[in-house]
Amino acid sequence: MAEKTDLNKVVDKVLVSEEELQRRIAELGAQLSEDYEGKDVICVCILRGAVHFFSDLVRHMTCMTELDFMSISSYGNGKRTSGIVRIAKDMDTSITGRHVLIIEDIMDSGHTLKHLKKVLEAREPASLKICCLLDKPSRRECDITPDYTGFVIPNEFVLGYGLDFNNFYRNLPYVGVLKPEYYE
Ligand code: IMP
Ligand code: MG
Repeated sequence: MAEKTDLNKVVDKVLVSEEELQRRIAELGAQLSEDYEGKDVICVCILRGAVHFFSDLVRHMTCMTELDFMSISSYGNGKRTSGIVRIAKDMDTSITGRHVLIIEDIMDSGHTLKHLKKVLEAREPASLKICCLLDKPSRRECDITPDYTGFVIPNEFVLGYGLDFNNFYRNLPYVGVLKPEYYE
């Protein structure tokens, strides 16, 4: 880790380093390229958390891709998500009859992606899959698993590489664990 700046002073430890991120993302890209070979796929970045993962991942995909963006927010009190998801920005592309890959930062309780999946399935895509950089299966409250996962992580609050703590720290180049004293 670099010296203690305002950014990394809240970080307890690095959970996934830049090198580990890039190595695994290259593997995921190769796997997706194989699975979607000969098809074209709409890759949907879920803003804002997936921004770096999406950008790095699609550059490892060798199949035909269209890139689109959605911004969603979950209503909930405090750190719990309610499962009621508001689409703040919808994608621009029509997905009916198309292959769609949702690219998200993390699956926690699973409520957000379960709801999003239901919304997108109603538009009748040819296929709909979920690729998450991180998965916290111990926190799951619904019956859903990502089709592709970068790293399975323990039940700790993480930040960096797109993930925020109070809307900051998304520009840390690695995934770190938040120091316990910052976590109310
Ligand atoms: P879920 O609906 O509980 O699966 O919530 C998923 C959303 O919660 C993610 O898209 C993140 O925005 C946020 N989230 C869950 N865990 C963390 C974490 O450890 N750090 C930062 N954001 C998180
Ligand atoms: Mg998110």
